Amino acid sequence: MCGIVGYVGPETSGRALEVVMEGLGRLEYRGYDSAGLALVTADGIASEKRAGKLSNLKEALEASPVPEAPTAIGHTRWATHGGPTDANAHPHRAGGDGRLALVHNGIIENFHALKERLLAEGVAFTSETDTEVVAHLLSQAFDRTSDLTGAMQEVVNELHGAFTLLAVHADEPHTVVGARRNSPLVVGLGEGENYLGSDVAAFIGHTRHALELGQDQIVTITPEGYHVIDFDGTPSDGKAYEVTWDAAAAEKGGYATYMEKEIHEQPHAVADTLLGRTDASGRLVLDEMVISEDDLRTITKIVIVACGTASYAGMVAKYAIERWTRVPVEVELAHEFRYRDPVVDTRTLVVSISQSGETMDTLMAVRHAKELGAKTVSICNTHGSTIPRESDAVLYTHAGPEIAVASTKAFLAQITASYVLGLYLAQLRGETYGRSPAEIMAELHGVPDKIQQVLDGMNRVKEIASFMADTRSVLFLGRHVGYPVAMEGALKLKELAYIHAEGFAAGELKHGPIALIEPGQPVFVVVPSPDSEHGLHGKVVSNIQEIRARGARTIVIAEEGDQDVVPFADEVIRVPRTSPLLAPLLTVVPLQVFALQLSTAKGLDVDQPRNLAKSVTVE
Ligand code: G6P
Repeated sequence: MCGIVGYVGPETSGRALEVVMEGLGRLEYRGYDSAGLALVTADGIASEKRAGKLSNLKEALEASPVPEAPTAIGHTRWATHGGPTDANAHPHRAGGDGRLALVHNGIIENFHALKERLLAEGVAFTSETDTEVVAHLLSQAFDRTSDLTGAMQEVVNELHGAFTLLAVHADEPHTVVGARRNSPLVVGLGEGENYLGSDVAAFIGHTRHALELGQDQIVTITPEGYHVIDFDGTPSDGKAYEVTWDAAAAEKGGYATYMEKEIHEQPHAVADTLLGRTDASGRLVLDEMVISEDDLRTITKIVIVACGTASYAGMVAKYAIERWTRVPVEVELAHEFRYRDPVVDTRTLVVSISQSGETMDTLMAVRHAKELGAKTVSICNTHGSTIPRESDAVLYTHAGPEIAVASTKAFLAQITASYVLGLYLAQLRGETYGRSPAEIMAELHGVPDKIQQVLDGMNRVKEIASFMADTRSVLFLGRHVGYPVAMEGALKLKELAYIHAEGFAAGELKHGPIALIEPGQPVFVVVPSPDSEHGLHGKVVSNIQEIRARGARTIVIAEEGDQDVVPFADEVIRVPRTSPLLAPLLTVVPLQVFALQLSTAKGLDVDQPRNLAKSVTVE
């Protein structure tokens, strides 16, 4: 949700424009309604901004080049206050000759009152944004203090809401000042140059040395170094760390889109998430799980909070964790959790799942859980992001950077990490319930090869999708762990191909959704393994017959060797045999490939679907 980049280098480098444009390219997944930048040149601030994608800004800069400069800030926007127009694009400038420029991610909740005050003072506004209010306040504070850091400190203490702010001023040409509250900001540490970014992707092409900032902190970067203070002025050190992936991991690597690449990285995402979780004897050892074993042994309930795709990973996890630990698990959309007075106490373990670690809804749910005394664990893909930092413990997924807005490899990694967590709890609590954690871990280690087999057999799925560009509606059915897979398949199709899609529990079909079936209606059915308990497989095969009898076109995802589905399926997509609880790691893959291919067939932007943003940092 809005990408922010800042750079300051030696006077002679003149590469601020190049660095900031490259950073914006890597952050465009965060928002792509408009983009802009401001450079601090020898003659004051030069800025340019355009509605639409970053390519529009590039064209504008080619048509009217800006002078070289050692210092710059840039922004790629996901609109909240004010539509995606040139005027509302960031940076916003203020002061005489627009000597101050500001970019912002988040929402200033008290901007109305502040704007009224400024209007009464005669300040003229050129945009409808909340951000411009801050630009004027900062400019006024700078006029009083002649110190950009001091001015920032004064202003942030007047603001309510969530924000990352970056500012430059023509009178301090070798400084960028940033501030963060409830929105992400990391520092990149170079040699004679330093960087700021919404995440490390902004500067990964230049340095892997990074610095985490805490909540309510202000950072000032110059070519020589950085300085961090809390909003009350107390100096702070920040926490330095090394980024474990490099620029190549954030490139398309020969694939047409990031999403295609990320789908193909899934075997690695699962394998890497399993790495290092067991000792030589096969026992699970989670170094990051700093909650005491006693506390974990005595929890009476687990609540999983997440949004979007991550919530479907949570739904899958519920089946497995309850099975292995016999602890009841609730799964709740994070934005609903906080507002319904949930029954949570000190013996509740609240597990948040988030790729970005910055989703505001999920962060607020975690904070609420902590207020209620719960223990909190974060399953997260982004080192040093806010949710893991505010949780009692973290289990990182190791999917690598996920750039495509619609999540794929992070989903598989989230399921994997929550399974590791479930097995760890089962091991601690001495539960076995059938197979031992070590046996299940051993089977999990075999899953990446099976995902690769699914990927290698996707030609028919691509053909089916290519012929469905005019389809107006697709239904997805699943049961048990196949139910959240069906929901995720439908979500992928909505996000990527803008097609009406619904995921249902197959057993629910007869209670209403079957009325939607008419001749030719495409229906994907995620069929459980014939080894599933309680005759589930047979029940889903019956469901396929019921919809086929009403004219549906059935596209069935079934295990190799499952012949029962053949008579009732228009298409059968095969996945390797695996235990029923591990099947989602395989069955979701054809649904991802289908959505990707259908979106491509419709000529849509797979990586940056309309209206979406990857990291939603507003509630
Ligand atoms: C946004 C994205 C989704 C993602 C959800 C949760 O809505 O568009 O793809 O699943 O946020 O994101 P998180 O980073 O918390 O996993």
